[in-house]
Amino acid sequence: MNMTYRNYFLKMIAIVTVTLMTNLGAQSPSDENRQMEFSKIMQQLSKDMQAITDAISREDWQRVKKSAHKIAHHAKPPVTEKQKIISFAGERFSIFKRSDQKTHLTAIELEQIASEKNVSLVIDTFAKLQKTCQGCHQEFRKPFKKHFYGKE
Ligand code: HEC
Repeated sequence: MNMTYRNYFLKMIAIVTVTLMTNLGAQSPSDENRQMEFSKIMQQLSKDMQAITDAISREDWQRVKKSAHKIAHHAKPPVTEKQKIISFAGERFSIFKRSDQKTHLTAIELEQIASEKNVSLVIDTFAKLQKTCQGCHQEFRKPFKKHFYGKE
C-alpha cells in the first residue's frame, strides 16, 4: 500500500519535472530569436503597430504618422545576416523581397493618409498594412524558424 503510494508520488514528480523541462525548452527559441537582428526588427515593427492602434483610438494623427514613418523606414539586418536570409529563401527570395516592399509602400501610404484625418480611411489602410505583415508570415515564418532556430 505504502509502496504504491510512493511510486505514484515519484511518477508525479517525474511528470512535473518533464513538464518544467519542456517549458524551459520552449522558451529557449525566443531567446535565440533575440540574437538575430531580423527578429529584433520584427519586435520593433510590432511595437510600432501597437502604437498606431493606440494612436487611432485617440485620433492622434501625428502619432499615426510618426509610427507609420518608422515602419516604412525600419532598420535593416546587417549584411552577413541578410546573406543568410537570401540563401535561406533561395529562389523564393523575390517573393520575400516583394512582401517586404509591400509593407514599406503601405506604411508610406498610411503615413500620407494620416494627414487627411479620416478615421475610417486610416483604419482601412492600417488593416491593409497588417495584411502585408500577415502575408509574409504565412509564407515564411514557419520555414524561417525551422531553418534558423531548428524549431517549427
Ligand atoms: C518579408 C517578410 C516579413 C514581413 C513583411 C513581416 N514579417 Fe514579421 N516575421 C517574418 C519572419 C520570417 C518571422 C519569423 C522570425 C522570427 O520569429 O524571429 C517574423 C516574425 C515576426 C514576429 C515575432 C518575432 C519574435 O521575436 O518572436 C513579430 C512580432 C513580427 N514578425 C511582426 C511583424 C509586423 C508587425 C510586420 C508588419 C508591419 C511584419 N512582421 C512584417 C517575416 C516578415
